This record gives sequence, C-alpha cells and structure tokens, in this order.
Amino acid sequence: MATAHMKVSPEDLSLVPPGSKQIPEPTIIVIFGASGDLTKRKLLPALYHLEQHGLLPKEFAIVGVARRPLGGEFAADMRAGILEFADANESDPHLESFVEKIRYFAMNFDDSDAYNHLRTELDNLAKEKGIGGNRLFYLATAPEYFTPIIENLGIHGLSKPSHGSVRAVIEKPFGHDLESAKELNRQVNSVFAERQVFRIDHYLGKETVQNILVFRFANGIFENVWNRNYIDHVEITAAESIGIEGRGPFYETAGALRDVVQNHVMELLSFVAMEPPVSFEASAVRAEKVKVWRSIQPIHPADTVRGQYGPGVVDGKPVVGYRQEDRVHPRSQTETYAALRLEIENWRWAGVPFYIRAGKRLSKRVTEITIMFKQPPLSIFKDAEGKGAEGIRNNIISMRIQPDEGITLRFGAKLPGPNMSINPVNMNFSYAEAFGSSSANGYERLLLDAMLGDATLFAHRDGVEATWALMTPILEYWAANPIKDLPNYAAGTWGPPTSDAMLKADGRKWRKL
Ligand code: BG6
Repeated sequence: MATAHMKVSPEDLSLVPPGSKQIPEPTIIVIFGASGDLTKRKLLPALYHLEQHGLLPKEFAIVGVARRPLGGEFAADMRAGILEFADANESDPHLESFVEKIRYFAMNFDDSDAYNHLRTELDNLAKEKGIGGNRLFYLATAPEYFTPIIENLGIHGLSKPSHGSVRAVIEKPFGHDLESAKELNRQVNSVFAERQVFRIDHYLGKETVQNILVFRFANGIFENVWNRNYIDHVEITAAESIGIEGRGPFYETAGALRDVVQNHVMELLSFVAMEPPVSFEASAVRAEKVKVWRSIQPIHPADTVRGQYGPGVVDGKPVVGYRQEDRVHPRSQTETYAALRLEIENWRWAGVPFYIRAGKRLSKRVTEITIMFKQPPLSIFKDAEGKGAEGIRNNIISMRIQPDEGITLRFGAKLPGPNMSINPVNMNFSYAEAFGSSSANGYERLLLDAMLGDATLFAHRDGVEATWALMTPILEYWAANPIKDLPNYAAGTWGPPTSDAMLKADGRKWRKL
C-alpha cells in the first residue's frame, strides 16, 4: 500500500492525464501575443517540460505571433526563457532540437490580409515538418485583440480545417463583466464550435487544485462531514506579496475582483463546494461547477470589501503604494484587495458562510482553503486543567494550494501528564515530502489536455457567465460608490481593517496564515 512517504518520480507529477501517457497528434501551436511575458515564463517552459517527458509528438512546431519584427531573436529569447524558467541547462539533450521547432511570424492582429500570409506560412511549415492539419491557436494577447483575432481566423478559413482538428485556447480575462463575456462568447461560438474552445484558468492546472476533487471524492472519510451539519464556515485566501509588476495599464482596468476572484478563486470555490460529478468527463464536471455558482445568492454590498495598498514594507524592503506604481492614476480607485462573504443556497451548504479574499502586496504569498468545522459540545472537558476546554479549538482541514503545498488536519489532543489538558495539534501531508518537488507550472497539464481535446479542466461558456453574473453587480456598485479612504492598507500587511470587521460582525476572524 502507498504511504504518504512513498516517493513518486517527478515525471509522474502534473504532466500526465490520469491513467494515460497519451501523446497528442502532430500539431502546430500558434501563440498570439508571443512577445509577452506569459509565453517566455510559462508557456514555452511548460511545452519544454512536456518535450522532456516525451509527451509531445515528434512532428511539432511552435509559431509565435506578435507585432514586433523579432525574427530569429524570438527563438533565442525563448531559449533563454527555457533555461531560466524550466530548470533546464545548456547540456540538456532536448534543448537544441526543441528550439529548432520555434518560429516567429510578425503581424498586426487587426490586419486582415496578414491572416492569409499566416495561413500560407502554417501550411508550408506543416508540409516541411509532416504535421498535417492540426492547429492549436493560443490567444495570449491583451483582451482587446481577442475579437479581431477570432473573427479573422474565421474569415480566413483558419478555424475550420479541411483535415485535422483546430482548437483555440483563450487566456483570461474572458470579458470584463457579464455583458462583455456574453458578447465574447457569442463571437467565439460564431467562429468555433464549443468543443474547439478552451478557456484557460491556470489554477486548474495546479496539482493541489485538482487534488481537492481527489481528496473529497476518492476518500471515504471526508465526504460525510462535508456539509452544513458539520462545517461552520469556509475561508479561501489567495494572497500575493508581489505588486502589479509593471502591468499598470492592465491592472487599472482589472482590479483584484476581475483579475483573480472571478476566475481563480471562484474555481477553487466550485471544487470545494460541488457535488460529486457522475464522471470526470468535461460536461459532467462543468455541470456540477455551474450548479454551485448558480446557487450563490446575490452578494450584498455590505458583504464586500475593497482595498488598495499604500507604501509599506514587503520582505524587509520598502515598496511604493499602488498609486505610485508606473502608469497608474495618482487617484486610482482600482482595488488591489477584495474580500467577499457569500452563501450557497443548496441542501449541502445553506447557512454556511464562505469568506473569500484576494490581494496584492499582502504579508506573504499564500493560497489556502480553510474548512472550519463546528465546535463539539465542551461540557465534559469544562473542568479540565491547564488549557482545559480553552485548548479545544474547532477542527480544521486546511488545503495549502501554494506555495507550501499540502493538507493539514487540526484536532485536539491530550497533553501528556496527569491532568486532562487539551492542545490543538496538526496532522500534515506535504506534497514535497510525499512526492518530491515538481517544477511543473500548471500550464503543462492544460496545454497537453488542450492538444488532446480534453476540456475537463477548462471553463465552459455557462460557467464564465455564471461567475460574471455574480461579480458584475459588485463591480457596478463599487464603480458608482467610490471610497475616500484609499489607500486603506499598507503594503506588507493583511489588507484593510474593514475585511477583519466583516468577519468580526459574524463573530469570526480570518485564520492566521
Ligand atoms: C494571474 C493574475 O491570473 O494570476 C496575476 O493576472 C496573478 O495578477 C496570478 O499574480 C497569480 O497566479 P499564481 O499561479 O502565481 O498564483
């Protein structure tokens, strides 16, 4: 029997869909917006990991598309990115052959003629490499280019091949609010059939996120207590210590609610709260997720908190406030912190508050889910000495999504000695200890799944619209009611005092992380 300390080789981690070592058909991956950070830091390193693990087809090519005339510089830059972000070194046997598969094509995304040239370029490349008709278009551009790219792929016959499969991966943010998400869905689905569309949320590529479902549904002991009879409340925290990292213009139009809560945090919430799906097929999993989001009651403005960081100290270094960041308005109202209290009105969860928070420039980087169980009756321990009944704290299951990946169960234990004294103790599962560490960044699994046509870990149009339906009234309320006291938390702290006050009003407080 496997024990928690059994070592599993890193190639078994993150990269392979359960039960298979399937290798996709020969494919060209076309990345629009390839000169951006995402391609160099995440996508190419992820593809390189797949190559190292023998999970890419032999006939394979990557074409970066962007406006700048980069030519051969592009492949050289990607090579540097692989060395830096994929833990590769110069002597790695896959390096040169992989870099040879990288091409670059310069064009303006709204230049319709250029798509004809692109098609010819891809056809020639496919012939040269024996790839055939399979294409994976990856839209990693600024969101305003999604529409022209999709329309032009349709107009120029790139979305429906004569042979092979064509798929489109679309990065977040998918829309700006409910209306724009619906409009984008309409445009996407007028060019691509839904089965060709892969709306990506890289959180779903994280091992620890997928493991929520394994933890809940592959074990007999947790599911029985996973409901309103036993759970007092649930907290989800997605805290980052970094700021906006030079992305001022993007972040000014986004804010924490759009950037992280509508997608990453809502995905986490759906995995924690969903009913068991009938299978792990895309339609079954997505159906259960949408049911969760649709059961969430409209969120009252009083159950929302926004914050913005001022100057402060992070990791011992002074940092500027949000309004002093490059290309940020000096009186910006954009929130860099958002917290919500919400309730899921269904048989499993009615009456159990879910508190969620996400923010930049917080005390530390930690994404964690806390399941706080109800207190047991304490009367038999009321006369206990020492810490006595005070030592009894609620049982907790905490799922550490990152960076110290693992799961902890907290329970009370008798302190050794002649007295009946009780102390909380932790049982801990650590990914690194049990399985060794993995350099996978989450995109490996998702890119592989997209090439294989498996949409289980991607957002569906109904899901995107359901989460935007929840967020949009909050965004509208916030836009109509600016607050005067921004910035309201110092960088390097745990966010605005109003966030603590929201929980205090319910007689609770955020768990210290
Ligand atoms: C991205 C957001 O989607 O997720 C970033 O745009 C954020 O602002 C990032 O920093 C967080 O991802 P991770 O994997 O570092 O938690």
